[in-house]
Amino acid sequence: MSARLARFLDLADVGRDGVLELLALARRLEKSPEPRALAGRILGLVFLNPSLRTLASFQAGMARLGGTSFVITPGQGTWALETRMGVAMDGVAAEHIREGLPVLASYCDALGIRAFADGKDLAADLADGNFKAMAALIDKPLINLESAINHPCQALADWKTLEDIGVPERAKFVLSWVNHPRALPLAVPAAAVHMAALRGHEVVVLRPEGYALPPVVMERARQAAAASGGSVTETADRAEALAGAHVVYAKEWGSTSHYGDASSDAEQRVALADWQVRESWFGRAAPGCRLMHCLPVRRNVAVADEVLDGARSVVLREAHNRLLVQIAVLHRLLA
Ligand code: CP
Repeated sequence: MSARLARFLDLADVGRDGVLELLALARRLEKSPEPRALAGRILGLVFLNPSLRTLASFQAGMARLGGTSFVITPGQGTWALETRMGVAMDGVAAEHIREGLPVLASYCDALGIRAFADGKDLAADLADGNFKAMAALIDKPLINLESAINHPCQALADWKTLEDIGVPERAKFVLSWVNHPRALPLAVPAAAVHMAALRGHEVVVLRPEGYALPPVVMERARQAAAASGGSVTETADRAEALAGAHVVYAKEWGSTSHYGDASSDAEQRVALADWQVRESWFGRAAPGCRLMHCLPVRRNVAVADEVLDGARSVVLREAHNRLLVQIAVLHRLLA
């Protein structure tokens, strides 16, 4: 068995071999559960933003290994936390992360933090400064539950899903922008394009004009592809992108040409309602092409019922795999 993980913040830190080891451990623990492996161990979970899957699957995973967990949602039954440095705390937040996070870390053996992008300043969100500042305050094993620009737990579950459904490494993986009523963060598309490139896929990012992924995200994915034998391209041409696709990974994200400008983003979206995945999208795709989405998904806005309820959808498997891969992550961090 490999050495203990110190932190789980980014698939790139773990590397391709590390990912394969975690997936092998996830399969072993699914087949041969270890209900006492983390007896007496405590996981703290801090959610600065909402969650269904991440929250429930980490609590369930910790329980399946014999450990326990607590959840903090600042401002909802606990003090609101100030995350900005050097400000006069004369607003809603009664406690600063500089005290709050070390206190919470002192109560547990590992901590997970979810802190979405502010969605105002693209450079600041790409730098992931808020999450890094919080990480620097914690001297315990730390898990990224989704930061401004990364969602490694989702990416790991998605890799396992691709393996489960038999998608070979050289397959064509299309990450497609889909419609949503408002701008969403770049964390999942950035993590998905990197994961698919690291796995060795022919990755195509399909997006309308104004929604190109930032160059730094594309470059990171291209470097991963170069190491694994894959490729990464982008296009606004749906027919070209979907021709021969083995996987369509649908995801919503905000305009990058008008980042932080909600009204301009909304104006751009008026003409983009047809960016909703429908069965007609798959006419020239490879036989058996699958639909992936990290959830939550807006039915009949992002993806049509006919696709989500059809045989090509693997969204529930992806969500279940969150539990299985996170059990492996917790085992490597704490067992
Ligand atoms: N995919 C995902 O992270 O789901 P939640 O936001 O519900 O945790």
